[in-house]
Amino acid sequence: MSENIHSTSKVSDLLAQGPAVPYLAVDQSPPLEGEALLLGAKNATLVIMTSLILTKGVSILRNIPANDDVIHMIQLLEKLGAKIAFDPNTNVLEVDTRALEDYHVPLEMMKMMRASVLVMGPLLARFGKAEIAFPGGDVIGARPVDYHLINFQKMGVVIEQHGQVVHGHTQHVKARNLLLEYPSVGATENLMMFATRTPGTTRIINAALEPEVFDLIAVLKKMGARIQVDAPATITITGVEELKPVEHTVIFDRMEAAALLVAGAITGGYIHLPQGPAHSMGMLLMKFQEMGHTILIHPSGTGIKIKATKTPTAISIKTAPYPGFATDMQAYMMAALTLAQGMSRVQETVFENRLMHAKELSKMGAQIDVVHDTALIRGVEQLYGTHVIASDIRASCALVLAGLVAEGRTTISGVYHWKRGYQGLEGKLRALGANITLYE
Ligand code: EPZ
Repeated sequence: MSENIHSTSKVSDLLAQGPAVPYLAVDQSPPLEGEALLLGAKNATLVIMTSLILTKGVSILRNIPANDDVIHMIQLLEKLGAKIAFDPNTNVLEVDTRALEDYHVPLEMMKMMRASVLVMGPLLARFGKAEIAFPGGDVIGARPVDYHLINFQKMGVVIEQHGQVVHGHTQHVKARNLLLEYPSVGATENLMMFATRTPGTTRIINAALEPEVFDLIAVLKKMGARIQVDAPATITITGVEELKPVEHTVIFDRMEAAALLVAGAITGGYIHLPQGPAHSMGMLLMKFQEMGHTILIHPSGTGIKIKATKTPTAISIKTAPYPGFATDMQAYMMAALTLAQGMSRVQETVFENRLMHAKELSKMGAQIDVVHDTALIRGVEQLYGTHVIASDIRASCALVLAGLVAEGRTTISGVYHWKRGYQGLEGKLRALGANITLYE
């Protein structure tokens, strides 16, 4: 008998203490108000870091977010032989690739971060060889790399697979036209980097045109690459002998900007992002207006203000490659739509399993039915705080956003996803009035 009494009090103590650290705790917050600054785009930073393998010398990158994915990429480049200095306070990264001599990426590094696959093109261009491991899938999908490998082979790279290890070496490399079956961001970037030093003219047709791809193109051009982008979605690369080191300031993160704007929308607040890249967030801003929120854009195209309505309306969203609705903003908007009057539809077409957060939002009182790739969301009056689990970077943020308006306290585990994608976002939300704490 005494055993049970003891254990129940222990359980309630444990519950009172909150889940095992690290976790995020979010208490119901007032309408968020104020101004916030942004950092550089994670998905531009990661690929631009791999592109430095194409050069021999010291490059300087600015506006680099100190999130865990960037730290992982630093470790990967150091493993290949690069010398790196990074100041997370000034967000300045210095990369010296002169001594880079290794072209093997160990399995555990590939597993830690899928973006590691983006070293393949630059390594093949520099050494004529590359050895990586299949990054494997994650919760949002199988995430194969067949578009990368098939098209490397078309350009004369011999690909051999030994278990999970993929070994590539160049034999008779040849520039040619490559038609992508799907405008894959990673495949476009990997093939483009390889083509920059492949003699002749390569055309990537049905290429990805995300703003992060264009930031990579800007860097490659600064290095001396010859690249042109034409309609329809065709990137033409004429190979050059050598590429030189660069200095570059990475574009601001439209995914961080989206998270802050949704924080304003969901709490009925008012947020100003002076650096907000409105020119690359058209679909999201249009959807905010459809919900009834007021959006103001600075005439320069950089600078966004959102004045939230207290009675948001239900809408439909379908994710798609840029300039369609970004899959990385889908979870954020699903959180906001849980409180929108009427029935919303969110269709995820880019990744086959990226609606996991719907179940967690339902634990908070949201009314969501998932049918295949579509979530049907009936708006409710109120969400309620409870313990939820983040399944990927964007889902972790969506649960934080829902926690801002949920009654009571929401605790979120799976925080390593949050830390992979954001540097100090909890601090920025707190500065806008949010009650959020990261327990580590
Ligand atoms: C990039 O991933 C981003 N990651 C993702 O952001 C983003 O969601 C995605 O582009 C789409 O915008 C980085 O830039 C590091 P894809 P990537 O190749 O390159 C299938 C985040 O939260 N596919 O465009 O992996 C694939 O499975 C992350 O920051 C193949 O089938 O995306 C997916 O269904 C998540 N074969 C679709 O295409 C391939 O060879 C789009 O993938 C390649 C992709």
